[in-house]
Amino acid sequence: MLPRQIGNYFEPFIGGGAVFFKLASQGTVARSFLCDANPHLVTTYRVVRDEPESLIKYLDELKLRNSDEYFYQARNRFNHEQMSDVERAALLIYLNKTCFNGLFRVNSKGHFNVPVGRYVNPGIYDAQQIQACSAALKHAEIECGDFESILTDVGPGDFVYFDPPYVPLTKTAHFTSYARDDFTFDDQVRLSNVFKRLSEVGARVLLSNHATPELISLYDGFDISIVPARRMINRDASRRMAPIDEVLIRNY
Ligand SMILES: C[S@@+](CC[C@H](N)C(=O)[O-])C[C@H]1O[C@@H](n2cnc3c(N)ncnc32)[C@H](O)[C@@H]1O
Repeated sequence: MLPRQIGNYFEPFIGGGAVFFKLASQGTVARSFLCDANPHLVTTYRVVRDEPESLIKYLDELKLRNSDEYFYQARNRFNHEQMSDVERAALLIYLNKTCFNGLFRVNSKGHFNVPVGRYVNPGIYDAQQIQACSAALKHAEIECGDFESILTDVGPGDFVYFDPPYVPLTKTAHFTSYARDDFTFDDQVRLSNVFKRLSEVGARVLLSNHATPELISLYDGFDISIVPARRMINRDASRRMAPIDEVLIRNY
């Protein structure tokens, strides 16, 4: 469902960057503009891009020290201490690969609060993969902030992919705490207005989300596809891999 021809690429909710890395591996993108509201994640992307070898050295050390006890020391340092960008990136990757379910969740103070996971021999990182990601990011700019901040220069022929925090499927299944400020339904409405503005500019725009009627109603008149997607993260182990309907909304 991706467009064949892409000018500049914009991904304002970069997260793990699955689509960006797919496009980068195909070599179809000229310049990329990436963004996320999570400052630690943005620091990590910049360190992967600019200082992969220093990052690998730090990760080597963390891997040697790994234990349940060390996880909590590292989490405490991550939340309360000043440190270099390389160290912060290494800690984020270490915590992400050793915490419960690979979640990134923060409390109301913005502190990462996921407990240690149960892994027999966590890989933590792969040096070759970090080098490959670094190469893929060489021509990418990455900003920390709200999604709208990188979209002022989008033009005809550019491609914008939106993968925002998803609307909850039920009232109890609310998970939008990647950052201190939750992404509310008002933000989804704001996003749908940006989607419409970019369509008028002549950009190609794709958006994914949970397929709820309320969300779909914001995109009346656009191409709507419902796709079963596998949910990787769910508190209930039996539902972790259950297919859930997602929607892909396109203006092309
Ligand atoms: C569903 S995830 C994106 C997942 C990504 N597509 C991937 O492949 O992993 C949503 C991301 O949006 C970020 N986010 C939340 N609110 C935001 C905002 N107002 N502006 C930009 N990014 C935001 C979160 O930090 C999170 O990384």
